[in-house]
Amino acid sequence: MSRIEIDYAKCVKDRICIRACPYRLFLDSGDGSPILHENAGELCIECGHCLAVCPVGAISLNGVAQESLKERAPSLDPSPESVEQLFTFRRAIRAYKTKPVERELLARLVEITRYAPTAVNGQSVHWTIVDSKDELRRLTGLVAAFMRENNIMPMVAEAWDNGVDLLLRDAPALAVAHAATTALTPQIDCAVAVATLELAAAANGLGACWAGSIAGAAQASAAVRELLQLPEDHNVYASLMLGYPKFQYNWRPERIPARITWV
Ligand SMILES: Cc1cc2nc3c(=O)[nH]c(=O)nc-3n(C[C@H](O)[C@H](O)[C@H](O)COP(=O)(O)O)c2cc1C
Repeated sequence: MSRIEIDYAKCVKDRICIRACPYRLFLDSGDGSPILHENAGELCIECGHCLAVCPVGAISLNGVAQESLKERAPSLDPSPESVEQLFTFRRAIRAYKTKPVERELLARLVEITRYAPTAVNGQSVHWTIVDSKDELRRLTGLVAAFMRENNIMPMVAEAWDNGVDLLLRDAPALAVAHAATTALTPQIDCAVAVATLELAAAANGLGACWAGSIAGAAQASAAVRELLQLPEDHNVYASLMLGYPKFQYNWRPERIPARITWV
């Protein structure tokens, strides 16, 4: 049950909240002054758009008023060119320096992912971050064993036996996104969060690479689940290696042209 409050002393009847609410929970009383839908408390998904968009701070949600929200700094907006460079020069990094990644930096990057979109604002994503060298090696060994037992890409386990890590590439950190299987779209929410983390990492001088093998192993192996401290009703849906890149990519490899159907 959400608590939406309108301060009519501040409201300027601009109808912005009426248009911005995804579920149209603000109704026009006729003169632009909003009144709440009778089931607003139950229907609200707490996306906060109403108080984030109101130019005069007339709305509060669950006791949180606009003045306590972080305000956008237009001077920090990236240029279209810098966004294009960040997005298109991001590469999957598979060679890392041994230098550990500071926990403070990892926590700051995960903070950014909290604002990534999730279905119906479900915010289903949880993280396990493995940054202990010993635990990363133990995890890699467990995943390699799982792959060997299930005849998945046998050369990966073979390489591991020969001291070559094709799974986690000796990365100093692994961020594992997991969610309750009962969430509306756990796989999509986790994938979006990991894609966001990857770009945030690149913007902060880190390299990253998706680790596709963790999810399957975590679903099947009790030892992997235990290492990742997964709640019983959670699955891993996406994982990302993180570390300082050993090499710099100064050229952008080509990709196939966009396939667009304009209708
Ligand atoms: C869902 C997903 C799973 C991936 N799994 C792995 C993986 O297990 N190991 C790996 O080295 N790269 C993995 N990648 C990275 C892709 O191989 C990489 O994104 C692709 O080759 C394109 O390279 P780029 O990211 O540098 O553009 C994965 C990427 C995605 C999106």
